[in-house]
Amino acid sequence: MLNNLKFVKKSFSAAVPHYDNFALLQQITSDLLISLIPIEVVNDRLICADLGAGTGYTSEKLSKLKIKNLTMIDLSQKMLSQCKNKFENQFLYLNADVNQLGIKDNTFDLICSNLMIQWSDNLDKTLSEINRVLKEQGTFFFSTLLPGSLIELDKSWKSVEQGDHINQFLPFDNLKKSILENNFQIQSLTKKEIKLEFNNPLEAMKSLKYVGANFVKNRQNKGLCTANKLTKMFDFYSRNFKKIIWLN
Ligand SMILES: C[S@@+](CC[C@H](N)C(=O)[O-])C[C@H]1O[C@@H](n2cnc3c(N)ncnc32)[C@H](O)[C@@H]1O
Repeated sequence: MLNNLKFVKKSFSAAVPHYDNFALLQQITSDLLISLIPIEVVNDRLICADLGAGTGYTSEKLSKLKIKNLTMIDLSQKMLSQCKNKFENQFLYLNADVNQLGIKDNTFDLICSNLMIQWSDNLDKTLSEINRVLKEQGTFFFSTLLPGSLIELDKSWKSVEQGDHINQFLPFDNLKKSILENNFQIQSLTKKEIKLEFNNPLEAMKSLKYVGANFVKNRQNKGLCTANKLTKMFDFYSRNFKKIIWLN
């Protein structure tokens, strides 16, 4: 588990130079997430956090809603350094794992997290930690990925060999159960299909790599990725799919 965290951190850190040019999905879901925040509840006294802030797209949008006190939190120091270069003293920065924030109880009025919680190895622990640092009347806005995301790549790889080349995501009902079990009240939990088009699987895989999302948790099949396997995978993909679908 510790290993997964180390590799998640390494993948995202390596993606920093390209991230903003390839993070189209992340920008779409961030815009959707921000649009859910009722403007009337936002004021400049709110204490807020952006969990898994990445290069700061969501934080920047939050600041445009007049949020003044915002802490950007990320596992990757390189992501945060990029943010510090961009935003300087506009925000606070915390390099921490979401499962161990080291922040006192009841700190935040509002926590936003765009496409981060699916990287957690222990969703219950993550939600319980978020609940702990959220004030009694606080609100947590998040987006995540659901099963069916990247199914085209998943099926194409599985036509070549067993094991996961693509991360598996928690089903919607399990996610809902975990949220309720960790003492949140759900105001709204919705699914939306977002389609991104790639000309071929290589483009899709490159895009995953350049946003740091290429690390496959608990991957068993660590054998060589030979030209023969890749050709077979491409062939299956081009016979069966035109688009890559993300669900969140
Ligand atoms: C897909 S990126 C999303 C970044 C940003 N929210 C956005 O929408 O562009 C996920 C981010 O979560 C961070 N992250 C992953 N696991 C984390 C953890 N356990 N604790 C804190 N941050 C984590 C990564 O370093 C990365 O910056």
